Amino acid sequence: MLNFELQNPTKILFGKGQIAQIAKEIPADARILLTYGGGSIKTNGVYEQVQKALAGRTIIEFSGIEPNPTYETLIKAVALIKQEQINFVLAVGGGSVIDGTKFIVAAAEYEGAEAWDILAKPIRIFKAMPFGTVLTLPATGTEMNSGAVITRVATQEKLGMGGPGLFPQFSVLDPEVVSSIPVRQLRNGIVDAYTHVLEQYLTYPADAWLQDRFAESILQTLIEVAPKILANPSDYKAAANFMWSCTMALNGLIQKGVPTDWATHAIGHELTALYNIDHAMTLAIIFPNLYKARFENKKEKLAQYGERIWQITEGTTEEKAQAAIERTVAWLHEIGVKTRLSDYTADYAKAAGFIENRFTERGWKALGERKDITPSVVKTIVEMSY
Ligand code: NZQ
Ligand code: ZN
Repeated sequence: MLNFELQNPTKILFGKGQIAQIAKEIPADARILLTYGGGSIKTNGVYEQVQKALAGRTIIEFSGIEPNPTYETLIKAVALIKQEQINFVLAVGGGSVIDGTKFIVAAAEYEGAEAWDILAKPIRIFKAMPFGTVLTLPATGTEMNSGAVITRVATQEKLGMGGPGLFPQFSVLDPEVVSSIPVRQLRNGIVDAYTHVLEQYLTYPADAWLQDRFAESILQTLIEVAPKILANPSDYKAAANFMWSCTMALNGLIQKGVPTDWATHAIGHELTALYNIDHAMTLAIIFPNLYKARFENKKEKLAQYGERIWQITEGTTEEKAQAAIERTVAWLHEIGVKTRLSDYTADYAKAAGFIENRFTERGWKALGERKDITPSVVKTIVEMSY
């Protein structure tokens, strides 16, 4: 096991009716900026519950944070914070609203000339305005981590940011919000969380027996929950397990003491920036091919994954590893997820060269757990994904 430090300050309020508890988490005299997206919270009762919980408080609203939140939109909220002397931000929404809010609270305290530098350079965030969240879409884990991913429309870039200043002070996880989520977003949530676990687990053995079993238990729970939640998002038992699995998949716990990959995410963000494909769907396009391309590096963990998750017990390490990749792709298809770039666009042939060049320009020469995924390996993986 590798050495590690672990500190996660986010308070979780989990369960039915917990939105009602947010008033006690926010100072009584706070000037609150309420951030949200395109309006789903207005039709599913979440907005109403938040307003009721915060009755009598000073609230200014900023809506319209789009999926894959953009710098161009968010920078307007930074101006509003100064204008309205806001001192607490409450994000109510999915990963995009929460990530967007992380950028807003970081940029509001940033003293440099150009807030985009937080992403371009990137600048690690130690200090930001205090904020809390009400999660409406289980998927990203952003409600209990300190990362965010922001898009700049003008340059078709999608980049990550983070730092210890970006943990939410609190996050409400009420599984009842799941009942209004469309199937497309439920699928996204399952696949995003599943891939988060794979990024931190399908590397090489590090004698981290407990972390492996944490990771495997999240994968098993997601596999169990997927058909139930897709068939009936109002199934509270399934929704609760789905929601907590997504949070646990990326709140820092399972990555401690183990090598991590994250190359699938780096490549996937480019596919979203180029073709506007939903984040999770880009991951399903890339990871099976990344595992084939890096097979020698990953075969021990792939075989362990095949045995423990898919009961593939026959054959050599290589045969089990190969079968594990195939079984995972079959599962993605079973839950209605497409796994080729050409399923989404006819204009796919430019992707590999474009992404190779971008990674070369950024100096991203050593991705993956062994730092051996070069831009030319990335090109191969993307070509395999056509
Ligand atoms: O905007 P509204 O109207 O709220 O509608 C949203 C949006 O259209 C809708 N929605 C959310 N909750 C709902 C709901 N509709 C009905 N009922 C509800 N309860 O769903 C749509 C998609 O929302 P979005 O927030 O974009 O989805 P998701 O949570 O999957 O977030 C994706 C973003 O998170 C980033 C992704 O790159 C992408 O930009 N990620 C953030 C991570 C992090 N911070 O740790 C890690 C991830 O790997 C990921 O990169
Ligand atoms: Zn993700």
